[in-house]
Amino acid sequence: MNPDWKNIGFGYSKTDYNVRATFKDGKWSELEVTSSEYLTIHMAATCLHYGQEAFEGLKAYMGKDGQIRVFRWDENAKRMQSSARGIKMAEVPTELFHEAVIKAVSLNKKFVPPYGTGASLYIRPLLFGSGPEVGVKPAKEYTFLVFVTPVGPYFKEGFKPGNIMISRDFDRAAPHGTGNIKVGGNYAASLISLEKAHDLGYGTVLYLDSKERKYIDECGPANFFAIKGNSYITPESDSILPSITNKSLQALAADMGMKVEKRHIPVGELSEFDEAGACGTAAVISPIGKIVDPDTNTIYTFCKDGLPGPISTKLYHHLVDIQYGDEADKFGWVEIVK
Ligand code: PLP
Ligand code: COI
Repeated sequence: MNPDWKNIGFGYSKTDYNVRATFKDGKWSELEVTSSEYLTIHMAATCLHYGQEAFEGLKAYMGKDGQIRVFRWDENAKRMQSSARGIKMAEVPTELFHEAVIKAVSLNKKFVPPYGTGASLYIRPLLFGSGPEVGVKPAKEYTFLVFVTPVGPYFKEGFKPGNIMISRDFDRAAPHGTGNIKVGGNYAASLISLEKAHDLGYGTVLYLDSKERKYIDECGPANFFAIKGNSYITPESDSILPSITNKSLQALAADMGMKVEKRHIPVGELSEFDEAGACGTAAVISPIGKIVDPDTNTIYTFCKDGLPGPISTKLYHHLVDIQYGDEADKFGWVEIVK
């Protein structure tokens, strides 16, 4: 196996093993290790009919010292528990989540991309209702699995400014809906607007709050942040996914002496920002070059010289340096896989 690590994209490729557990009669089984990429599933499983499904995304990084580091898995464990509660699934205990993540990485060490390539090992935990029901009700049985796959940048530009488009025709989540948990239905709801944006040459969609369409919500599969003077500004909303990357950037920004503002961001305020970006596990920091509002024919331009802004660049380096072990892990975010 000798992939072109520096040029791999964000996609699925087969690794050696994945790990699985099942919830039955009120308790979780031991983890099972398998090489199969397939599942045998009951045709009446609730995930297939009623969308009882949630997933997570985190990464493992190969350091210069040859050690593999997993970033903030405990936050993903908590978020998966919150997703489970949100759609009435059995929660995966933190210890089981941890064991599964570490085992899936350890068993697939040879797929962790080498240090210096910019690639990493994406870890995808998945939880779904696997028990049969025909009436609309929660399943009695659940399956939890974790697979891994080596990935490069999510947006083809990587750490270079990309352009995005405001969507007013579609919402990814309803007010008081499931936007704040990581369930598959939110992503299904985003597909038409995403494809529309891609067809028009944009990297992703900037969603507005679905109640009033006045405020910035989310940026495709990533959170939105902006820099204005010495402030790091990010939306406050009940319908966006609480991003672990965003939470980490807020801590780094505060540590750099910046003011962190979590609040409503009216669309018109975009013209006042010095820098803007999308952030997430897959997106890392993806700087935004232009935001186009097709309904008002407005173009908000950042990165006028075609380069990421200085604050986004500094935040990006702090974050990835901690993830790859090049900077001291002073917040205790990283676990080294033994
Ligand atoms: N928002 C959405 C809709 C996402 O799918 C993701 C990815 O997980 C994020 C934000 C970023 O969250 P995180 O930084 O925890 O990966
Ligand atoms: C992530 O950033 O981990 C995501 O889940 C984004 C996307 C691939 C769904």
